[in-house]
Amino acid sequence: MKLTRAQQLKGRLRLLGDKSISHRAALIAALADGPSEITNFSTARDCAATLACLRGLGVSIEHNDKKLRFPGNQRLVSPREPLDCGNSGSTMRMLAGVLAGHDLSAALIGDESLSTRPMRRIIEPLKLMGARIEATEGKPPLKVHGRSKPHAITYKLPVASAQVKSAILFAGLNAKGRTTVIETSPTRDHTERLFNGFGVPVVTNSDLSITLDGPARFSGGSITIPGDISSAAFFIAAAMLLPGSELVIEGVGLNPTRTAFLSVLSSWGADISTTDFRLERNEPVGTITVGGETGEPVDDRVLDGEKVPLLIDELPLLAVVGTQIKGGIEIRDAGELRHKESDRLAATARNLLAMGAKVEESADGLRVSGPTKLRGAVIESFGDHRIAMAFSVAALIADGDTEIRGSESAAVSFPEFFALLDSLVQR
Ligand code: S3P
Repeated sequence: MKLTRAQQLKGRLRLLGDKSISHRAALIAALADGPSEITNFSTARDCAATLACLRGLGVSIEHNDKKLRFPGNQRLVSPREPLDCGNSGSTMRMLAGVLAGHDLSAALIGDESLSTRPMRRIIEPLKLMGARIEATEGKPPLKVHGRSKPHAITYKLPVASAQVKSAILFAGLNAKGRTTVIETSPTRDHTERLFNGFGVPVVTNSDLSITLDGPARFSGGSITIPGDISSAAFFIAAAMLLPGSELVIEGVGLNPTRTAFLSVLSSWGADISTTDFRLERNEPVGTITVGGETGEPVDDRVLDGEKVPLLIDELPLLAVVGTQIKGGIEIRDAGELRHKESDRLAATARNLLAMGAKVEESADGLRVSGPTKLRGAVIESFGDHRIAMAFSVAALIADGDTEIRGSESAAVSFPEFFALLDSLVQR
């Protein structure tokens, strides 16, 4: 993909369903008593992988009128073929949790990137729950041998990960007794909200412990998936960086465990407002309005500690924006970024340097100087959707042409990204 400088971003839009919520809604609908209907399901390639895996487990899913229909009361069966999770860590980790609580065996495979990602973080708790899991050095492919009556456990998460928390809660559904997950730092809470929304009480306590009393079953129902705020983030950042922009994004997810980047951008001078709040199965939804005015940054220049898990998918993009912030910005405590679809600290540093930014990479973060004029460059996405899209935003404020190598990876979370960007950009 080749991109050049833009003047402004203008438009009003709705986005396809949130990737994180779509994965969970599909898993819940597959396990529920009674029929379910999902509207605005994500078009992300990752979410298609979750549906294909569920079909491999014998779940019947009807897909028409942009709706997914699940009949309910389905019995999962051991698949004949390995379940292909593609590029999707969420699919592999959460599905392993589901499988751990069922009396069946399944192989889980992934693409080259997923095959290098750490799985011990789910293998350990799921083994404590009674599942047998085979892996080579804690990496995929995995072979999961579940059991219909797993043990309820109390488990303190060694890494701040919503995927690991969710894998344990999915396994805990079939355990007799109380499953407790203790977080050291809050992470996205879609699983907790949707379990409650579909009839399985999950309690979040003030000490960061989360409890589920099993066995418990979901009641089927309908849900319209809120627009994906992490996809919206690219347009919001671009609008902020291009003075005179006006962007309205309706029906977008506003879960407080996902909106931290809005506060960060506001504290860096962005003109962002949120309105029209409502709840969809406990998930906050609303409208985001962004004007392209940047004032003086006030604070939040250092992104570290408990802020990191709540900004995790937006950090490469925030590093791009950071090149334009007076005094620069710093990301710390973000070693987890090295275990995403690519090593996102290295990928971000390499591409920012290519565009003429001043960046220092450390073991767990980046220091980005600003403001710096960016210049067009050849960007390497490393097959990572969020790197491809973050640097497409950088291209809009750079002098000269930018080429994004591996831009097709955007389809992993946002297949409509380049077409929508083109429709919003004013040159
Ligand atoms: C996700 C959790 C995060 C995030 C990923 C989606 C989820 O991963 O990076 O894009 O849907 O639970 P971790 O839980 O590994 O931090």
